[in-house]
Amino acid sequence: MYKILKTDGLAKRGEFETVHGTIQTPVFMNVGTAAAIKGAVGTEDLQQIKTQVELSNTYHLHVRPGDHIVKQLGGLHKFMNWDKPILTDSGGFQVFSLAGLRKIKEEGVYFQSHVDGRKIFMGPEESMQIQSNLASTIAMAFDECPSSVASREYIQASVNRTTRWLERCKNEMNRLNSLEDTINKNQMLFGINQGGIYDDIRIEHAKAITEMDLDGYAVGGLAVGESHEEMYRILESVVPYLPQNKPTYLMGVGTPANILEAVDRGVDFFDCVYPTRNGRHGHLYTNKGKINLFNAKYETDDRPIEEGCQCPACKHHSRAYIRHLLKAKEMLGMRLCVLHNLYFYNTMMEEIRAAIEAGNYSEYKAKKLEGFKENDK
Ligand code: GUN
Ligand code: ZN
Repeated sequence: MYKILKTDGLAKRGEFETVHGTIQTPVFMNVGTAAAIKGAVGTEDLQQIKTQVELSNTYHLHVRPGDHIVKQLGGLHKFMNWDKPILTDSGGFQVFSLAGLRKIKEEGVYFQSHVDGRKIFMGPEESMQIQSNLASTIAMAFDECPSSVASREYIQASVNRTTRWLERCKNEMNRLNSLEDTINKNQMLFGINQGGIYDDIRIEHAKAITEMDLDGYAVGGLAVGESHEEMYRILESVVPYLPQNKPTYLMGVGTPANILEAVDRGVDFFDCVYPTRNGRHGHLYTNKGKINLFNAKYETDDRPIEEGCQCPACKHHSRAYIRHLLKAKEMLGMRLCVLHNLYFYNTMMEEIRAAIEAGNYSEYKAKKLEGFKENDK
């Protein structure tokens, strides 16, 4: 299912086969938490901006519109009219970062909906059932992402529980995939490595989850307040303990520079809200670093966001016009900025894949990182 076509150092150029098509890796998944990419970006747009995988969320879709409704309508692919791969995050992370009052028990998590305050319970079985109803291509394991300030003792106990939860996720996913009325009977399951900043806990956990022979493995619990250097060090420690014949996914990461560094440490899948969230705030990615369109110097700038960029914003509009749209709070402003940023990320992934194929990833990475510093000079 996962085929490595070429390696360059630890960087891998691969193909991941799914029932919804083949994913070219390394890949950046475009975040559409509630079955929509924020910024009024639709299916036809995603085709134009080279999106390979869309990422949605178990927790959000369970709360609204409800996974049973999505199932009744034929699953998330049909609901959204997106026929390429979809990865759903398990809800674990969002429950911890979004939901109100919560209680973590061995069986799962009790919490209050961020929409209407309703009491909800979610454990490994419920998370798998919801993801099965959504019928995503790849389901994520139900994990706990402990706070970055949690003690070593807490993290060890939490990781042990996450391992027990993973066993339950795997059993439940197998059961659901064998049921007659399951929409995607080939739904895949990725495990998630945790362990905070403790290399030894992470390595021990990586070994334990590798034994479960899942379809892929994620590194979770990063980009939660630790430094970039710490994150790179953890990747260097833990990635070698994850199976090399399965894809490795770094959850919630990150900046273009983070992605370039993580690819160099063996990571294949990424997702992050930065391009969408920053786009909505007029912060745009370019090969010379980030620019803020609200800056007065762009008021009369008739150049595109990035010279030569083939995205729908740059092909047709100037910085001055898009800045005006943002200031006038016209929806088109946010939309064009999000399209540019996602196109920038997706295009960078394309370049990364080409550089690994050509065997010059280090040179490519160094040049790209040097360029990003230009606007800071
Ligand atoms: N998204 C970003 N980090 C995490 C994590 O640790 N777990 C899950 N489930 N999702 C995430
Ligand atoms: Zn552009």
